[in-house]
Amino acid sequence: MSDTKRMVKIFDTTLRDGEQSPGCSMNVAEKIEVAKRLELLGVDVIEAGFPASSPGDLESVRTIAGAIKRSGVAGLCRALETDIDAARDALQKAEAPRIHIFLATSPIHMEYKLKMSPEQVLERAVSAVKYAKKFCSDVEFSAEDAFRSDPDFVCKVFAAVIAAGASTVNFPDTVGYAMPAEFGERIRYVMEHTAGMEGARLSVHCHNDLGLAVANSLAAIAAGAGQAECTINGIGERAGNASLEEIVMALRVRKDYFDADTRIDSAQIYPASRLVSQVTGVKVQPNKAIVGENAFAHEAGIHQHGVMANPATYEIMTPESVGISKNELVLGKHSGKHALSERLANLGFNIEGKALDDVFTKFKALADIKKTVSDRDIEAIVIGSAGAAPEKWKLDRWVINAGSSVSATSAIRLEGEDGGMREAVHFGNGCIDAAFSAINNLIGKEVALEMFELGAITGDADAQGEAMVKISYDGGIWNGRGVSTNIIESAIKAYIAAINSMEAEPAGRRQSAMGS
Ligand code: KIV
Ligand code: ZN
Repeated sequence: MSDTKRMVKIFDTTLRDGEQSPGCSMNVAEKIEVAKRLELLGVDVIEAGFPASSPGDLESVRTIAGAIKRSGVAGLCRALETDIDAARDALQKAEAPRIHIFLATSPIHMEYKLKMSPEQVLERAVSAVKYAKKFCSDVEFSAEDAFRSDPDFVCKVFAAVIAAGASTVNFPDTVGYAMPAEFGERIRYVMEHTAGMEGARLSVHCHNDLGLAVANSLAAIAAGAGQAECTINGIGERAGNASLEEIVMALRVRKDYFDADTRIDSAQIYPASRLVSQVTGVKVQPNKAIVGENAFAHEAGIHQHGVMANPATYEIMTPESVGISKNELVLGKHSGKHALSERLANLGFNIEGKALDDVFTKFKALADIKKTVSDRDIEAIVIGSAGAAPEKWKLDRWVINAGSSVSATSAIRLEGEDGGMREAVHFGNGCIDAAFSAINNLIGKEVALEMFELGAITGDADAQGEAMVKISYDGGIWNGRGVSTNIIESAIKAYIAAINSMEAEPAGRRQSAMGS
């Protein structure tokens, strides 16, 4: 950490704005794993969800609030007493709870969505903040669609909510419309023209519709904003939110420019990115800054030569500074628990006791099949055990018969939670269709496959296959991930993992109340 003057707060909304976007849903256990990793990363506030939006969300905010000690935990609310009551209930166990109220201030949102006049919006914002203040000392108010709002109206609303007790006022570019220079200027204007601003913190929350969310957030920080709202890997509504890792590393690498820093432990960035990608099933693009597969790869000979002579020729930060380790130690079947534990610590996983024993058992099983076990393999073991839903269904065995001139036939045997075995045989249009149809038969549900991706954890010939699936049923979507040295088995495991997630948290518990 540097000795800079100004500390910018990082408000992470991976579990709310990130999770809210289609295809990024997580089950409660996965959200807890992500929340713990965000705490380790050192984020100031974790926005854990939107408690009034569904019973499932309320429950997960409650569980996260009870599990997190070193970061604040926020719950989002509309400016409604019922929403604030839900957030208050959900945040009861939080060490540092924050109630986050939002209400739109732009003409288009006020007229068409809220059907309220500016005076009514002002009055509602103030009364909601006053109500929340009765239960929580830390209240944030967001003027939704602030960038497309009349700046003086936003200043008026901010002044009024600060007077009512809001300690943070958030200026979102909800639709990602702003340009960096004008966003910076707007932030400066709002800071100068809001009465009472010196007693509150100005936050920004930028969406990425024009690919400018990080640039706009940084322009706002340069102009004096004291909090940035962002997500791991930039996941979020539509084109996503500002990416946490890019904001944090821009501030750190260019502290000469910003003279500002965060309290993020940057060595935890990469493990957090991998975890979020694994549990959401949303891959990180290879050329993504900071955490993409190619972010530190040097392909051109002249670059490689330069980096070998002095890494600073082509690297403005080291891979280690963001938690990407140099794999100097090769692990294999003769490696002991101590070597594994050291490797895990280097990868940012501090695992001890029974959890370490479990990872070690899985590591040994893999090392029996594979000659060398890479960092990626180890990560896959750890992340694979993180946040898995209770196993209502377990794969007992499978056989698939397929070829170029015969239809694929599968026989799948599953063990139910009662310990009973059930087996089904099914034809299909290929191995995967045959296997998944047999599983649908066994569980008695016509689950639809929405997304299916197969990859390999590493590039070697004996690499483990990694499958990601998204399934839908009854209006809900669930993710599943499976890893195996047999690629078909990884697909079957991923499908069963998604089904177990669905059984643990059926669709009705996930309906969203967002947008009103
Ligand atoms: O984008 C947005 O305006 C939001 C608010 C709820 C803060 O997500
Ligand atoms: Zn948002």
